[in-house]
Amino acid sequence: MKLGVNVDHIATLRQVRGTLYPVPSAAAAICQNYGADSIVMHLREDRRHINDNDVLTLKNNITVPFNMEMSVNKEIVAIALKIKPYSVTLVPEKRKELTTEGGLDLVRYYKKVNNALKLCKARNIKVSLFIDPIKKAVDIALAMGVYAVEFNTGRYSETKNEKLRKSIIDKLTKVSDYAKQKGLFVAAGHGLDYDNVKGIASIKSIDELNIGHSIICRAVFCGLGNAVSEMKNKINGVTL
Ligand code: PXP
Repeated sequence: MKLGVNVDHIATLRQVRGTLYPVPSAAAAICQNYGADSIVMHLREDRRHINDNDVLTLKNNITVPFNMEMSVNKEIVAIALKIKPYSVTLVPEKRKELTTEGGLDLVRYYKKVNNALKLCKARNIKVSLFIDPIKKAVDIALAMGVYAVEFNTGRYSETKNEKLRKSIIDKLTKVSDYAKQKGLFVAAGHGLDYDNVKGIASIKSIDELNIGHSIICRAVFCGLGNAVSEMKNKINGVTL
């Protein structure tokens, strides 16, 4: 199973003090050297962490795929079309949220999502949709012609109730198997950490996990490279 490392919170550290450091693209290079299979940056409309220069310069620092997370906002889509990341993951975005809350509502926002998707596909950018693990959402994503879906693991990560976790894993396994069988690249993420990742990593049909906050937090204690390789080992069943 692959690991995509989200480096948004390297930028958070920079923004809280208005300094020029730490530089997210430099962190991305370290993540790559220690086993990250892709790098994720979310260019938010409010630029609260990652900024335009971060996404512009990232490709000069890494050789692994750059997965740009973004909303369907026109200005942000135009930036993606200009810099041409390997893939984009379309997510819902609210100004006041601490982090992405829930998957895309593909029924309500079909037109907006589909328009952004078409523009990206025309530029040969692969498109993934961040959705809740529901078969209907996978079917809509398939009809839109996506390359990938990313399943929201937020509900799984938030609960400590083992019974509920197990039922979420069972449901996620079914939907993920379905998406895989239909030919999609399957990703999952949100709120995954060193303790809870194993349950999700046990789902064979998931190709990649996208993880940010827990890795950057762990890096404070053991260094970014160690934090990335420790997570990679956890995902692939090597106990340290
Ligand atoms: N996937 C998506 C779509 C996200 O929005 C985020 C948060 O930016 C993540 C994965 C990573 O979540 P976390 O930082 O909780 O690991």
